[in-house]
Amino acid sequence: MTAAALAGTLPKHASHEGISRMAPPRAQRVLIAVTGGIAAYKVPELVRALVRAGHAVRCCATHNAAQFVSPLVLQTLSGESVRTQLFDPEQEGEIDHIALADWADLVVVAPATADALAKMAHGIADDLVTTLLLATRAPLLVAPAMNVNMWRHPATQANVATLRARGVAFVGPESGMLACGWEGEGRMAEPAAIAAEAERRLGAPTLAGETVVVTAGGTREALDPVRFLANRSSGKMGFEIAAAAARRGADVVLVSGPSALATPAGVRRVAVESATEMRDAVAAELARCTVFVAAAAVADFRPAVAAKQKIKKEALADDAGLVIELVRNPDILAEVARAPGRERRLVVGFAAESEDVLAAARRKLERKGCDLIVANDVSRSDAGFDVDTNAVSFVTAQGDETLPLLSKREVAERLLDRVEALRAAAHDEPR
Ligand code: CTP
Repeated sequence: MTAAALAGTLPKHASHEGISRMAPPRAQRVLIAVTGGIAAYKVPELVRALVRAGHAVRCCATHNAAQFVSPLVLQTLSGESVRTQLFDPEQEGEIDHIALADWADLVVVAPATADALAKMAHGIADDLVTTLLLATRAPLLVAPAMNVNMWRHPATQANVATLRARGVAFVGPESGMLACGWEGEGRMAEPAAIAAEAERRLGAPTLAGETVVVTAGGTREALDPVRFLANRSSGKMGFEIAAAAARRGADVVLVSGPSALATPAGVRRVAVESATEMRDAVAAELARCTVFVAAAAVADFRPAVAAKQKIKKEALADDAGLVIELVRNPDILAEVARAPGRERRLVVGFAAESEDVLAAARRKLERKGCDLIVANDVSRSDAGFDVDTNAVSFVTAQGDETLPLLSKREVAERLLDRVEALRAAAHDEPR
């Protein structure tokens, strides 16, 4: 596909003002997993609070939970059917359990019984709810509720410590009179407190209404059916950007070269291998795209011919080397920056530089026609490929800002703060 073909993927009306803002903002999606404790009777209040705050809410409940709270009440308040069974063909037909696990931006376990905490800590998946909790990649917020002695039991405390170490967040339990007659710690946090903590975890939906397309990872350029040219990119930076954009409420498409990383919650992943496949995948998303971030390490060249059969040594003279002719790959970033509808799209590129970083990034900004270049100094060992930290500078037409060494997650957050500021400025500009 050529740049012209890429341009041709845009609908005729796409260059009109405001088209990207017409899509309704994507609500942040909360899955509430209800396990079997008396506090389950308070979950309808939690559902109402989250629905009122504008979130899309779905519930799933264990068999025991359904003894304490009617799934019909949860269904009525959430407006979505409530799943309780793993192997019910009707429920599975409506939304399969893996799709439900993938759907969520945040999973709230409320109430979480001692048994549920133990299963979560040990990766046991013996019913619908525990299977969902094992399958989801969304962050987990847990509201325990149980008898004070069960809560204080070393087994429960060890399970809580294991889960905390894994990044699971807790709200409560509170102290007070317990339904079992004992007084002490073990009461589920109030629904309003759980909802507030959920809101904090979700973050503000500051990118709601935006469609963010991120390229990530390296590409593979085939030499023959078994060999390829590749690079050391792990995809970490692009995956963090996609995850952070989804947390901020954007619709996110992650066009990724081969990567072992898990697809972040709330992100649609399009898997590609070569640069041309990546370009075609980006082109297919461009009509809706309002923010494009090129974080992929795209091979600049590919073998002129990818042999149909495995290249054999026998075909060559005994000590002859093999000469491979390389041809240029399309520059995806530059093509997106030239594509029609440019005025309604923010284009962000990366620049891996080893000397005179800012000057080189500024040249790249102009040459490729980007709004923002994230420049990183690849001469440092603590930044760039396959490490968890990055040292970057943001380069725009207005100037540049150099950030300290940060985790890639933090770089992603700072980048999206910049993206939001540039989007706000673009909306304010007279057209
Ligand atoms: N890029 C792209 N398509 C390509 C090559 C690069 O979209 N075929 C994007 C990358 O995702 C990145 C930026 O362009 O956002 C990097 O530009 P590039 O010119 O490749 O810079 P370097 O990798 O730094 O290489 P060099 O300066 O040596 O050309």
